[in-house]
Amino acid sequence: MNAMDQLLSRVSTDRLHEPAPTAAQLEQCVAAALRAPDHGYLRPWRYGVVTGEARAQLAERVVASLLRVDPAAPQAAQDKRRQRFSTMPMTLVLGMRLRPDHKIPVWEQEMTVAAGVMNLLNALHAQGFGAIWVSGPPAQDPVLAAELGFAAPDRLAGFVFVGTPETPLPAHPRPDATSVMADWQGGPLSFAADRG
Ligand SMILES: Cc1cc2nc3c(=O)[nH]c(=O)nc-3n(C[C@H](O)[C@H](O)[C@H](O)COP(=O)(O)O)c2cc1C
Repeated sequence: MNAMDQLLSRVSTDRLHEPAPTAAQLEQCVAAALRAPDHGYLRPWRYGVVTGEARAQLAERVVASLLRVDPAAPQAAQDKRRQRFSTMPMTLVLGMRLRPDHKIPVWEQEMTVAAGVMNLLNALHAQGFGAIWVSGPPAQDPVLAAELGFAAPDRLAGFVFVGTPETPLPAHPRPDATSVMADWQGGPLSFAADRG
């Protein structure tokens, strides 16, 4: 598949099984992530790699975080997280090393992290792996972030589950590209996607 076909066929999936990428394959995907634009070269991306026995420990931290944020979290929500975090072949912890004191605004630093994740997802897909970026309340929990090495002002950008995808891959609907494009004629831009 050429590069455009790779980009146009990527899809998120949580139907994942072993094997996860090897260390060398993952390193290549992270190298692709580091091609993301990075205003000021602040290098805010961090990728924690969780596999094997460590998965169950992370799952317990995530469930504890969920209960910290929402003590009334339904048992089903707790079970779902425990199950996913302890069984996905690999989980990447997305850390954001942020510099609120820097002239580059934090929102730009966060977008650099997001751009890196997108490249990472595409690189995983190009290597035949499946992945999905997830967040949920634990991703916004400063206590969990600190436990994972991202004390404030650093934060988490969520997690990426990675593995070998079940096929066929899901077919998520995509808007028509032209519906989110418009020629600027001097006034406010108007898009078919907004016209219903
Ligand atoms: C920052 C961020 C957080 C997300 N968190 C979740 C999540 O917690 N649970 C979920 O099912 N999807 C989440 N998603 C959406 C999935 O990653 C994915 O984009 C969605 O399932 C649609 O699939 P697609 O990427 O093939 O369009 C998140 C996406 C982003 C960008």
